[in-house]
Amino acid sequence: MIIRTIEWSPDTPAHLTPGSVVMVDQTLLPGELTYLRIRDVQSVWRAIQTLQVRGAPAIGIAAAMGVTVAIQALPETTTGELTSAALQAADYLATSRPTAVNLFWALDRMRGVIRASGALPPHEFKNRLARESMTIRDEDAAMCRAIGRHGAELLRDGDTVLTHCNAGGLATAEYGTALAPIYVATSQNKHIHVYADETRPLLQGARLTAWELMQAGVDVTLICDNMAAHVMKTKTINAVMVGADRIAANGDTANKIGTYGLAVLAKAHGIPFYVLAPSSTFDLSLDSGARIPIEERAAEEITMGFGKRTAPEGVKTYSPAFDVTPGGLITAIVCEKGILAPPFQTTLQSLLLI
Ligand code: MRU
Repeated sequence: MIIRTIEWSPDTPAHLTPGSVVMVDQTLLPGELTYLRIRDVQSVWRAIQTLQVRGAPAIGIAAAMGVTVAIQALPETTTGELTSAALQAADYLATSRPTAVNLFWALDRMRGVIRASGALPPHEFKNRLARESMTIRDEDAAMCRAIGRHGAELLRDGDTVLTHCNAGGLATAEYGTALAPIYVATSQNKHIHVYADETRPLLQGARLTAWELMQAGVDVTLICDNMAAHVMKTKTINAVMVGADRIAANGDTANKIGTYGLAVLAKAHGIPFYVLAPSSTFDLSLDSGARIPIEERAAEEITMGFGKRTAPEGVKTYSPAFDVTPGGLITAIVCEKGILAPPFQTTLQSLLLI
């Protein structure tokens, strides 16, 4: 079953109903597979902030569609007014989450289209933005397929992969990044077993990765994050595969908190550590990961997870949502263009020329 995480639903032919964003509400999984239909930019912002839609590529697509939805119901008086509203929406959506660069990449791409479309009549302008956000979605789906094909070359029949957070179909348009090679390898009749870290505090591994792998018939075993070292020592793990939220020019990679620890553990156990991400996740304007902004989340996410108090009221907390894995701990970065080996300083730059 292929789950389409987020889509643009165009307006009706007679323009009676404006276009809308349709997305899986990921906060309800694994209990319910429910789709939200969103018709205003504030709700898109909230969906990104509250992780109803999450995962770097998916929030980029959501942001692009958020810009589009912001102008759908506006009167078609002048394109100038629509242009200002769309640019304002882009600036607003940029405040929703700070770490995944895909969000800013998608908004920049929409800004480019907005500025280049000023001569279009208002209705055409609206359609142009809708088409661009659908293209961003479709390109993401194609990039994930390609990542899957390249990444599957790293997997043999019988391999066991450990993954963290959710870098599957739910984190992208469809298919995923870190999980894509597992889907491709499975379709090639390779048996792949996956250990999924539960991924405290919001349990993307338990709620989302375990769910989507089971839906796809992949052999998955759920573990708590603090079991990874023991599992690496006592079981055979052939590879760690994770996604990314932002990759700097030297290969330093921001991903869900806990990823850095896994990379250290993988090194200690001689296990290859692969990062899988589309080129929309590269931020070559940053020379190193030290400059990647790290989101801090509300204390309640670790003291009152899912509504149950698990820490004393008033306790001090620190809750970074991401960490940065040094490029030196990464065996290879797999993107839609192929498998990049160290030194990433050189291989990532040369990617720009392809
Ligand atoms: O806070 P989240 O759930 O948005 O964090 C997501 C991750 O860290 C993913 O691993 C990353 O975005 C890659 S998704 C293909």
